[in-house]
Amino acid sequence: MKRFIARPVKEHVRRPAGSPNPAGVMGPEKNSRQAALIEFLLSAPMASAERYEDVPGDTLFPSEHRVISGAGSARRREFATVRACARTALGQLGIPAGPILPGDEGAPRWPRGVVGSMTHCAGYRAAAVARRSDIAAVGIDAEPDAPIPIRVRARVTVAEERTHLAELGVRRPGVSWDRLLFSAKESVFKAWYPWTGRWLEFDQVVVTLSPDDGTFHARLLVPGPRIGGGRLRGFTGGWTRRRNLLLTAVSVAPVIPAPSEQPLSRPSGRARPHAADGEVT
Ligand SMILES: CC(C)(COP(=O)(O)OP(=O)(O)OC[C@H]1O[C@@H](n2cnc3c(N)ncnc32)[C@H](O)[C@@H]1OP(=O)(O)O)[C@@H](O)C(=O)NCCC(=O)NCCS
Repeated sequence: MKRFIARPVKEHVRRPAGSPNPAGVMGPEKNSRQAALIEFLLSAPMASAERYEDVPGDTLFPSEHRVISGAGSARRREFATVRACARTALGQLGIPAGPILPGDEGAPRWPRGVVGSMTHCAGYRAAAVARRSDIAAVGIDAEPDAPIPIRVRARVTVAEERTHLAELGVRRPGVSWDRLLFSAKESVFKAWYPWTGRWLEFDQVVVTLSPDDGTFHARLLVPGPRIGGGRLRGFTGGWTRRRNLLLTAVSVAPVIPAPSEQPLSRPSGRARPHAADGEVT
């Protein structure tokens, strides 16, 4: 039987402000424009930072310059800005600034003892980090709030997801559910790859979006890593839609108790499983 785990760390994925939150789609709330978008999804022990414009000047370390020097100026700017976000977030954890170089398959090489994730899309850059002792894996992704081309949709979804998307479109039209589902998969991949060192295909994960509470579930169709006594079977993440952007995030607690140690029901006082915790059997 699949069960959601109790998280042994303090809450790190936030229910969107103003809960209950119909569709996870925030209306014009007080202060919502001022709040950091990423902070609607992540909170301590995660640290995060975001920017809507590129940083001026040269903020890169020489080794970062060397890996990005051949790229075009737009790519160099997003590379620099997202690293500025990452250094701000690392600073919140008390970790001094240093180069963040791309490693295997482009996965960022974080300082020892740190997990993190970065994203950039038109008009938005963000980074999230945590100490490995607090969080096993994290993935964030931002996308423009617009449908994905039909051909791409066919490539990144499985039949079950396409049925789900059709239902969501009828139930709550006007949301780019296909782009949101794609973003959820990108977040899952960014958490998965640095952790496992394994590629994950789009047809190896099935995502279910919850329109009412700003969460989603990603079911793994391939064996996940073992952590603690259980094997990871999937991710529960959070999503939000603001400022013409879609943002998703997943993270996994560092210890998942063996199934026999897990509570059979959710702890009282919680309205839903923790967003972005792993699910194990
Ligand atoms: C790597 C990938 C996830 C990046 O996502 P994206 O939406 O294209 O781009 P984003 O701007 O949101 O993210 C880019 C950042 O992701 C990070 N990233 C790149 N490769 C990564 C990897 N293998 N693992 C973790 N993070 C990675 C990097 O920090 C990168 O920024 P940088 O190059 O400036 O350092 C995507 O290009 C990709 O290859 N997807 C195919 C695999 C996949 O998603 N499978 C789905 C399984 S369900």
